[in-house]
Amino acid sequence: MTITTAQPVPAADHGTYPEHPAGRRVLTGDRPTGPLHLGHYFGTLRNRVRLQRQGAELFVVVADYQVITDRDIADRLAEHSENLVIDYLATGLDPESATIFAHSAVPALNQLLLPFLSLVSIAELGRNPTVKDEIAHSRQSAVSGLMFTYPVHQAADILFCKADLVPVGQDQLPHLEVARTVARRFNERYGAGVFPRPRALLSAAPLLPGTDGSKMSKSRGNAIALAADEDETARLVRGATTDADRRITYDPAGRPGVAGLLLLAALCQDRDPGQLAEEIGDGGAAALKRTVTEAVNEHLRPIRARRAELAADRGHIRQVLRTGAERANAVADATLAEVRAAMGAVGSA
Ligand code: TRP
Repeated sequence: MTITTAQPVPAADHGTYPEHPAGRRVLTGDRPTGPLHLGHYFGTLRNRVRLQRQGAELFVVVADYQVITDRDIADRLAEHSENLVIDYLATGLDPESATIFAHSAVPALNQLLLPFLSLVSIAELGRNPTVKDEIAHSRQSAVSGLMFTYPVHQAADILFCKADLVPVGQDQLPHLEVARTVARRFNERYGAGVFPRPRALLSAAPLLPGTDGSKMSKSRGNAIALAADEDETARLVRGATTDADRRITYDPAGRPGVAGLLLLAALCQDRDPGQLAEEIGDGGAAALKRTVTEAVNEHLRPIRARRAELAADRGHIRQVLRTGAERANAVADATLAEVRAAMGAVGSA
């Protein structure tokens, strides 16, 4: 078979919530590079918990190998990985039913990378817009091979457990496309039906701006971490960019700073940002910021309390990761055996 160019996926093939999650297998994950923030929370964490409560089977990968795509050292990797798990559990993921694991702890998952890499061309790897963007923003002098191949590794994250739903943000769609392409080509080359074609589940929540009006992101220093305390939250909100107009209005295009704060408070209180703006009226930025600080702190109070409890028992967190790795290994071993058999590898069953 010759390698063909990936076909663009019709938009309708990707879903937004609500779906019918009962019985579906869902895989998603994060890089352990630092604390999760409100952008993650409203963008994806809440959805995961909802999917779980509605009966989906969740696999959540702590993508530790991905940390070294754009940096030389994986700084404080174990600590960041454990903190990620603490954030997951504090926001409501149940480790009894969700499989939470680090992909470096699942050898068979990583071994899938080898056959998978044979199914994509160098040209395709070089065309991935998210990879291009990461290269443009990377502070490394040289671009590593892993930078180009990590979307294929991510395909292994998704396909090892034959996930059919992948909750992700818009920026991850090209990677999902790689996973779909790999699944299709593997089936075409080695036997139909080994892999399902996973679909993205895009968050319906609007993109949450950070305290400077641009996308909330740790590297931009505009993020409010779930783990931040109430004083720190107040300080971050106080420092947010607004404008001199005392009348508060919800105008995302014309007043991104003010609109971002309104949206944040509105999400926390589950209400409409325009209505909130009307309520604040002529109160100006000071009243707006007071409202936002209170809304965020109130919404996060139970999550932060739970976080503090979980953080006091690191042994439990490590046990969650060990149990998750055991379950993930069993699934990955079975998939790898199937892959080797389909390929007719010597020594396979
Ligand atoms: N690339 C994702 C990110 O940077 C993390 C990730 C790794 C992931 N493996 C995944 C997401 C599999 C979804 C599915 O946030």
